[in-house]
Amino acid sequence: MSRVLVTRHLTDGGLDPLDEAGFTLVRRPVDEPYTHAELVAAAPGVDAILCLLTDRITAEVIEAGAAGRLQVVATAAVGYDNIDLDAARSCDVSVCNTPGVLDQSTADVAILLALAACRLASDAERDLRQGQWTGWGFLDHLGRDLYGSVLGLVGYGRIGREVARRAEGFGMEVLHHTRTNTGYPGYVAELDDLLTAADVVSLHVPLTESTHHLIGARQLALMKPTAVLVNTARGPVVDEDALVVALENGRIHAAGLDVYDGEPAIYRRLLAAPRTVLLPHIGSATTATRTRMARLAAQGICDVLAGRVPPNLVTS
Ligand code: NAP
Ligand code: GLV
Repeated sequence: MSRVLVTRHLTDGGLDPLDEAGFTLVRRPVDEPYTHAELVAAAPGVDAILCLLTDRITAEVIEAGAAGRLQVVATAAVGYDNIDLDAARSCDVSVCNTPGVLDQSTADVAILLALAACRLASDAERDLRQGQWTGWGFLDHLGRDLYGSVLGLVGYGRIGREVARRAEGFGMEVLHHTRTNTGYPGYVAELDDLLTAADVVSLHVPLTESTHHLIGARQLALMKPTAVLVNTARGPVVDEDALVVALENGRIHAAGLDVYDGEPAIYRRLLAAPRTVLLPHIGSATTATRTRMARLAAQGICDVLAGRVPPNLVTS
């Protein structure tokens, strides 16, 4: 009988494919993360691991697992930068993720952050909650309009394209940059050109060697002083130190972030930075989307253990 380690508690119904397949689920009664050492110890005794993006599935975990019975790791996330793909490849352990099922929810959060940052919503709400709102003021809390502005998408895959669709509804002009020419209108070959032209820059790339600190001091200096940076991709895509300096110096108008380098720890200067909207990595956090993610990850495990190639197999 196949055994599946499910590292954290998931939404109701998310594990149905595993239950229906009759697999034995190895789970903790309380929703507490496995330490890295506990993952290494548990991996050899299971055929599959259903993990989250917060679990570090290192070469050590994979090699320990492959020395036992581990065949597949499925993450209930589309990003898989927490998994050592080289180790998985060399140990013949399959990796699955959850592409497609979270695009709408994550695109919503990118727009939420773009709006909130443009309109300085966090600063305005803070003033109200702290009793500093003395009445409707003509000159108070003046933000910038999304309407009529230029959106620069860095990354134009599943989520980036959904953000583009929404932006058109806001009357925005949409540009996008990727390494490969998409052939679609609005393609900008050079990232620098997109950064110079955009009023809102929104990041939708995976975290890889080529995207680590893709947005640093030099790139922030190219942005308009009125521009807004939105990051729903991964924290390390942005050099947070450089971002804080840009916000403190008024070099850019505002930032809206859902993801952080080293999260859940947040760089202290970022917490104190002006004109900044900060969310706790909630891009895909709706009950329906999280359930779809869990089910897709679970279905990937069922496919691999049944000898089928799952549609959500990570191949890169
Ligand atoms: P996707 O469909 O694979 O799209 C990725 C895009 O990034 C592609 O257009 C790709 O085009 C581009 N890209 C990759 N490397 C690049 C580089 N160095 N420079 C410029 N463009 C580059 O991915 P997705 O499903 O939209 O997801 C994107 C990321 O969002 C995920 O990997 C994940 O980290 C993050 N995410 C976050 C949340 C959240 O809760 N905040 C939720 C879901 C996803 P080329 O390869 O042609 O360059
Ligand atoms: C969320 O960040 C994901 O990659 O699914």
